[in-house]
Amino acid sequence: MPESIIRETHDKVGLIRINRPAAMNALNDEVIEGIGSALASFEADDDIGCIVLTGDSKAFAAGADIRAMKDFDYMAAYQGDFITRNWERLKTCRKPVIAAVAGYALGGGCELALMCDTIYAAENARFGLPEVKLGTLPGAGGTQRLPRAVGKAKAMDLCFTGRMMDAVEAERCGLVARIFPTEKLVDETIAIAQTIAGYSLPVLMMIKESVNRAFETSLAEGLLFERRTFHASFALEDQKEGMTAFLEKRTPKFRNR
Ligand code: CAA
Repeated sequence: MPESIIRETHDKVGLIRINRPAAMNALNDEVIEGIGSALASFEADDDIGCIVLTGDSKAFAAGADIRAMKDFDYMAAYQGDFITRNWERLKTCRKPVIAAVAGYALGGGCELALMCDTIYAAENARFGLPEVKLGTLPGAGGTQRLPRAVGKAKAMDLCFTGRMMDAVEAERCGLVARIFPTEKLVDETIAIAQTIAGYSLPVLMMIKESVNRAFETSLAEGLLFERRTFHASFALEDQKEGMTAFLEKRTPKFRNR
């Protein structure tokens, strides 16, 4: 694991901390590839049920590394498959991934958070897509995922102006699920992730696939996918255990099968 990534396990939760404080956690290849390897190791670990991605109290990540990309020409970006090559590892992760955002989540940092399944924010979080100020546009999914999360008007406003929005505005517009005091953000997120990780992993994976379908397909097709997946859940021992435990008034013991 590179120095710029800290990987920790907290019982059934895998925690990935971006650790490049001198550059506001700007995302260079080392950071992105470190996140990819940490994700791969947590995915391969049967004891991990939920993953949390965070930065530090000043910055989740202040964007792609401007120093590293300033001199790119078109062919360097295109042939090198900039972004697609290594950023999209998050998209293929099948376990739940929560972004815990304190401080700046700008440009690629905001886009990285948008690639996660949900976002919890600290009171000091600041979200924005300031690429317009640099003479470019969001390139890690911001123009696609932000409007799906917050609607066209807010997304256009943020992309056109490059302004930052605070945690309260981000929660109000649906980008953020919950807000916590800054010093409690990571602990509270880990606690929620522990609860999630206590549920049946195959069910969590089915939920993730089904919710993601909502953004890829028509309502009728999405409903069909959900219905068939719901039917498939009756093949799980965990479904029998969950419903039996409810009726017997006890806590279920899920075994991920
Ligand atoms: N890339 C490289 N270095 C960065 C960086 C970035 N995205 N963001 C901050 N840094 C570096 C600064 O250059 C500075 O380094 P030095 O100390 O060596 O000068 C250090 O981090 C601290 O930053 P500041 O002195 O600027 O700190 P500040 O508190 O005054 O401001 C900030 C903080 C508002 C986050 C400001 O740093 C900032 O605006 N950063 C750039 C944000 C940005 O434009 N992000 C989009 C990048 S493009 C992109 O992400 C493309 C994409 O879609 C994939």
